[in-house]
Amino acid sequence: VLGGIRLRDPARIGILSEVVTVREATAEDVEGCVAVLAGLPGYFTVDTHDDLRTSFPHGRGWVATAGTDVIGFVLVVRRYPRSAEITYAAVRSDQWDNGVGTALVDASLDGLAKDGVVIVEVKTLDASAGYEPYVATRAFWELRGFVQLDCIDPLPGWQPGNPSAIYVASLNATR
Ligand SMILES: CC(C)(COP(=O)(O)OP(=O)(O)OC[C@H]1O[C@@H](n2cnc3c(N)ncnc32)[C@H](O)[C@@H]1OP(=O)(O)O)[C@@H](O)C(=O)NCCC(=O)NCCS
Repeated sequence: VLGGIRLRDPARIGILSEVVTVREATAEDVEGCVAVLAGLPGYFTVDTHDDLRTSFPHGRGWVATAGTDVIGFVLVVRRYPRSAEITYAAVRSDQWDNGVGTALVDASLDGLAKDGVVIVEVKTLDASAGYEPYVATRAFWELRGFVQLDCIDPLPGWQPGNPSAIYVASLNATR
């Protein structure tokens, strides 16, 4: 348990709990995380729900919880010793802009840095798609220190018409 996080507006958490906790995920958290995706159909197509169920046991996750509810999560996959990819990041929409996403990303990057990771990738929808909801998503990653280094279109595995913005953040110098 990483402890309670400092929320910009604690009242927004509502009647469930006044405390949001960020901790590493366990196998029991997967359906709570899928429920977060299911609440964001403008960002996550239905096929991502099973993809998350499949990839969850192979990754390392962090969840934000209020009471027993998962209100946000990050999933990270490691393929190489010194790098990692954030494959999912999502917060329940009634809790956006309250610091939950930042707390999750900070916790995951801190954990990865302690584990020897020096560079972290995240893929999101490129600006050239002209899809307004992802303006805020790209701003979120840029404000958290991620830098765009490429746009790949089409990206294998992504549905056509979804140019992929490749972002990276360094956690330590690589040379
Ligand atoms: C992206 C996401 C995880 C962020 O979670 P969150 O809890 O809202 O994040 P935070 O509250 O910690 O931070 C949001 C930041 O984005 C900024 N932001 C929000 N909307 C913005 C906009 N339209 N333009 C510019 N900045 C914006 C906020 O000002 C804030 O930055 P600040 O901390 O410097 O003030 C969440 O919004 C989400 O689930 N989005 C939909 C799914 C998604 O896009 N996932 C990522 C896929 S790659």
